[in-house]
Amino acid sequence: MRKPYTPEEILLTGKVAVVTGAARGLGRAVAETLREFGAELALCDRDPIGGFDAFTMTMDVRDPAALEVFAQAVQERFGRVDLLVNNAGGTFHAAFAELSPRGENALIAENFTQVTAVIRRFLPLMSPGASIVNVTSSEAHQAAPGFAVYAAMKAAVESLTRSLALELAPRGIRVNAIAPDALPTEGEEGVRERMLAGESPFEPVRLPPLGRLGDPADAGAAVVFLASAMAGFITGTTVHVDGGIHAAGGWRRTEP
Ligand SMILES: NC(=O)c1ccc[n+]([C@@H]2O[C@H](COP(=O)([O-])OP(=O)(O)OC[C@H]3O[C@@H](n4cnc5c(N)ncnc54)[C@H](O)[C@@H]3O)[C@@H](O)[C@H]2O)c1
Repeated sequence: MRKPYTPEEILLTGKVAVVTGAARGLGRAVAETLREFGAELALCDRDPIGGFDAFTMTMDVRDPAALEVFAQAVQERFGRVDLLVNNAGGTFHAAFAELSPRGENALIAENFTQVTAVIRRFLPLMSPGASIVNVTSSEAHQAAPGFAVYAAMKAAVESLTRSLALELAPRGIRVNAIAPDALPTEGEEGVRERMLAGESPFEPVRLPPLGRLGDPADAGAAVVFLASAMAGFITGTTVHVDGGIHAAGGWRRTEP
């Protein structure tokens, strides 16, 4: 039996973390929390990333040439990657019957194909002890009217997480996911507003079982734990960062 874990083992001092989609929202909060716990950061986003003591690149993760430039720059600067956080992603509201093939392909590229491409490109830089955290959604686990393809792609990333956990276990690389919900960000609020504005006959849960919305930093805390030595025996699983929405199933909290 090993000795009890110590507080220091949650620290990521000197670990090199790559975070996609880090200009705002969850990606930014994850990067900020990783930094607080000592990680060195390599960040990318299609929008410029300001205000960080980090290596940053403005790029679209769906662009293979840009991904190659980013990965080579990370390799030259840091020589390795200890944590890869696949956070970039997004959606728009559209009834399935009205979604064009172009719109569907955009959702698939935005939420699935780029994730596999990013993982495949960074894997050669990862050694035993490294880990991957994929950001999915509670919608990967439940019906999502108006977001069918987005939810299916997030479910695909959940499946990918489990398969890669096994494929990469012999290399000592762990693969996990966080499934957020009710963490207010520009992206999340934009989607929610359009749904509540009457674009859908369904509406999402307004009040998580915990009785309040979460904070993007809650996603950062979960990623830090999964990346740390404290989670060294955890792979192929999903942490739901959602105030209890996933657990609730059909139950709704009606009072604060
Ligand atoms: N906030 C929530 O409660 C919530 C719920 C479910 C899922 N998510 C997931 O969490 C992740 C972050 O969402 P968020 O709420 O912070 O959204 P957001 O829209 O506020 O932020 C997303 C960031 O990623 C960047 N990005 C998106 N696509 C990109 C691309 N192709 N290339 C480069 N950068 C790209 C955007 O420019 C933006 O800075 C997404 O994968 C989203 O699906 C969030």
